[in-house]
Amino acid sequence: MKRSKIAGIGYYVPENVVTNDDLSKVMETSDEWIQERTGIQQRRYGRKHEETTTTMGAQAARIACERAGISPEDIDFIVFATLSPDYYFPGCGVLLQRELGITKREAGALDIRNQCSGFIYALSIADQFVKTGMYKNVLVVGAEMHSMGLDFSTRGRNVTVIFGDGAGAAIIQPTDDSEQGILTTKLHSDGTYAEKLAFINPGAHGGYHANKAGETYDFGFPPKDTYGEIFITQKMMDDGQYYPNMEGQFVFKLAVQKFPEVIHEALKDAGLQASDISMLIPHQANLRISQFVQKQLGLSDDKVWNNIQRFGNTTAASVPIALCEAWEAGKIKKGDLVCLAAFGSGFTWGSALIRW
Ligand code: UT7
Repeated sequence: MKRSKIAGIGYYVPENVVTNDDLSKVMETSDEWIQERTGIQQRRYGRKHEETTTTMGAQAARIACERAGISPEDIDFIVFATLSPDYYFPGCGVLLQRELGITKREAGALDIRNQCSGFIYALSIADQFVKTGMYKNVLVVGAEMHSMGLDFSTRGRNVTVIFGDGAGAAIIQPTDDSEQGILTTKLHSDGTYAEKLAFINPGAHGGYHANKAGETYDFGFPPKDTYGEIFITQKMMDDGQYYPNMEGQFVFKLAVQKFPEVIHEALKDAGLQASDISMLIPHQANLRISQFVQKQLGLSDDKVWNNIQRFGNTTAASVPIALCEAWEAGKIKKGDLVCLAAFGSGFTWGSALIRW
């Protein structure tokens, strides 16, 4: 079986910079609190109603295609990871196909919903398709437009200050070079704590059969005057239940356990050790998490790429943005061992080892 490789990568972040001081004007927070707890100094927000998760994904995808030496028309399959899609349905994969102007080919498009580990899941899917010979050019995208769905009141500050917008993309192709390519990917999940980091409404779990006062009904059809309140009720709106929620400390504790675990699992599978890693690209969840993982693995500062200071947490986009930045900065060279790792909502987590 052939190996697959990352043939081209690209990223896009919106121009609009939002500092911690900007946020402290609309909610009770401070630059000091945010930097101390997360390392974040600023993040980017897309231009509302002009930029979307899909348009940002397309910007990143065009760069990745160019660097891979292909035209978007050559794409055989799209895997799109996001938790902030343009529409409830259809997914961003087909919207991206349209945005790139490549609908004629009718290539398949798959959306995946694995939040922070979305890009690693997407990469693993692409890897399987390419290794088996089914496709030659798979476009993998991780993109988020968080700024359209955050609570900018003090109520939402523990979540809102963390997230930023952006997109990253990669073209996955087969390689004949036995020294190069994706060596292994490891994917895990545990749904036990699904609600600890979640965006629950609107959803099919319970918004329906509720009247305007938010009273729920447990029979087949909602009463006549509940028309239009199927997924979201006024009560949910009033209570701010249509924003992401997170038990930060709970997530933090599991993250610092699972990151090293899944990295060691990949290293073991590939017959390698932590000291073999040339560059670790951790999902940019919190600088303190990345620093903890770095210490656990015994890696020096020049072997870990962190950009959460400038972009915040861009969820599915964070790994490809960081990977691309590190590569553009000349920190990833041919033959280097690159390790990607992520943990987040679900919980889902994963790692990938790539010989560049
Ligand atoms: O990428 C997806 C995966 N996500 C993660 O990995 C996130 C992991 N968790 C974290 O990064 C951290 O838990 C947070 C950065 C989210 C929060 O930091 P923390 O040190 O765990 O703070 P906390 O939630 O325990 O809150 C401490 C205090 C609370 O006040 P009291 O109850 O002590 O009076 C919060 O209300 O800080 C308060 N607080 C804030 N204060 C100012 C929460 N958010 C803010 C804020 N500004 N933005």
